[in-house]
Amino acid sequence: MPRSPLTAEELRSHRWFGADDMRSFGHRSRAKQMGYDAEDYAGKPVIAVVNTWSEINPCHAHFRERAEEVKRGVWQAGGFPLELPAMSLSEPFQKPTTMLYRNLLAMETEELLRSYPVDGCVLMGGCDKTTPGLIMGATSAGLPSIFLPAGPMLKGRWRDTTLGSGSDTWKYWDRKRAGTLGDQEWAEIEDGIARSPGHCMTMGTASTMTAAAEALGLTLPGASSIPAAFSPHQRMAVATGRRIVAAVWDDLRPGELLTREAFDNAVAVVVAMGGSTNAVIHLIAMAGRAGIDLPLDAFDAASRDVPVLADIRPSGAHLMEDFHDAGGLRALMAELGGLLHRDTLTINGRTLGENLDGAEVHDPAVIRPRADPLSAQGGLAVLRGSLAPDGCVLKTSAASPELLQHVGPALVFDGYEDMAARIDDEDLDVDADTVLVLRGTGPLGGPGMPEWGMLPIPKKLLRAGVTDMVRISDARMSGTSYGTCVLHVAPESVAGGPLALLRDGDVVELDTARRTLDLRVPEEELTRRRASWTPPEPVAARGYSTLFHRHITQADQGCDFDFLTGSGGVPEPAIH
Ligand code: FES
Ligand code: MG
Repeated sequence: MPRSPLTAEELRSHRWFGADDMRSFGHRSRAKQMGYDAEDYAGKPVIAVVNTWSEINPCHAHFRERAEEVKRGVWQAGGFPLELPAMSLSEPFQKPTTMLYRNLLAMETEELLRSYPVDGCVLMGGCDKTTPGLIMGATSAGLPSIFLPAGPMLKGRWRDTTLGSGSDTWKYWDRKRAGTLGDQEWAEIEDGIARSPGHCMTMGTASTMTAAAEALGLTLPGASSIPAAFSPHQRMAVATGRRIVAAVWDDLRPGELLTREAFDNAVAVVVAMGGSTNAVIHLIAMAGRAGIDLPLDAFDAASRDVPVLADIRPSGAHLMEDFHDAGGLRALMAELGGLLHRDTLTINGRTLGENLDGAEVHDPAVIRPRADPLSAQGGLAVLRGSLAPDGCVLKTSAASPELLQHVGPALVFDGYEDMAARIDDEDLDVDADTVLVLRGTGPLGGPGMPEWGMLPIPKKLLRAGVTDMVRISDARMSGTSYGTCVLHVAPESVAGGPLALLRDGDVVELDTARRTLDLRVPEEELTRRRASWTPPEPVAARGYSTLFHRHITQADQGCDFDFLTGSGGVPEPAIH
């Protein structure tokens, strides 16, 4: 559709640099102090390159270079790039969990864009929570925004075996605990599992959320699948810088891209990728910023219609590098055909359908045809019942089919430390039918819903050959994890959800076909237990933690802060 471009005077930054007053004299003289003349910036869109580089974030190790490449593109297109660093949420290192800080990154991003003379932005993220955090903030700020995904790292290698982040860590750790893998082998795996910059190359939260960002129309076509270390990734960075300048002149804002249809596309892509359960929380929160109500049940509905096509670990066998070589996300979306809304607008000014023209699958073993999917139904089930009145999530594609219908006695752990202290106890009253329950690990309880939902299998059962059990928690699970793990139980136990009332030996019934999770305890007994239940003392908190405790919403609401949903519109700070 033809758009009439903005004039230079209509640029938001014009009020900082273009006016004839004392303040703009200050802005211009200070730009000169930074080494820039009027030729560098006058009349040009100012592009914030919001960079989540950090020396402690291996997934973003290449972002110093990539920021230069983004800026090269911005200059080429006649913009004025300024790098604005933002908090780096480094999944491997940040404790207790990066999820505690997703909303802080979102707030920082929104306020950076609000307070500085910015006309548009390039968001540089990829490691798990950075993608939703950046996009949530930019959506609320409402300025033209484009996302540059970090790209997956290259495949890992141990002897003759390909290694995938997370998934293979869990796998070989279980073998080490069972005594079938030695220290020498374990050390060799440590050497080979992460060998290049880039985010996890399995279908973890990173690969899931960057794919979702592309499906939402927030990246250039094909951007999310390119391995970080490949030169096409550099060229994509330059092209991303070029494009944002045009998007600013076109005044193409996130609100125009982020429609319910775009979110439905993102949900379908997450399902077709066999994506991380974390996407459920993040996409609900991201939609909330765009003023769109994305219900938990949208994921279940999509899972019934959309097959899993990406044969990537942990649901499948391959890794993101293979996925890129097989045609990448464009090929997968082309294969989804009519399961996507093709007329949604994307940041390059074209529709999603136009961006998919000519895309094709080069390796059907990695991107499976719809006629021969990895699984005919999607990988996510939303369950409700007396144990989870507001819902919970099960990644069926990573679960054991024989456990999807299961009745068993609960064994309850109160928090991670209790679980860690007792799980390998030889005298633990547990067998393969036991339902392992971890509570006190939700948004408030964790705090921040740590990824503890894949409870370890008790050592004595591992030795007996048990590889999966039904596990239930109010925590999350890494996208690289697997097993029959019911997650995100809402309300969480600390908020007084029924999980808080559960006792050892109570019979729990998981019926995935009916989408239910129930507690076989009489109502009167639960009422008695509730009467004697007292909420745990809040953890002593200060600063950001206080804000978090007061305002975090439950998992089914996306765990955003209650005062951050929606957008304040494009920020218009007064100049004085
Ligand atoms: Fe950064 Fe997995 S640790 S994406
Ligand atoms: Mg992760």
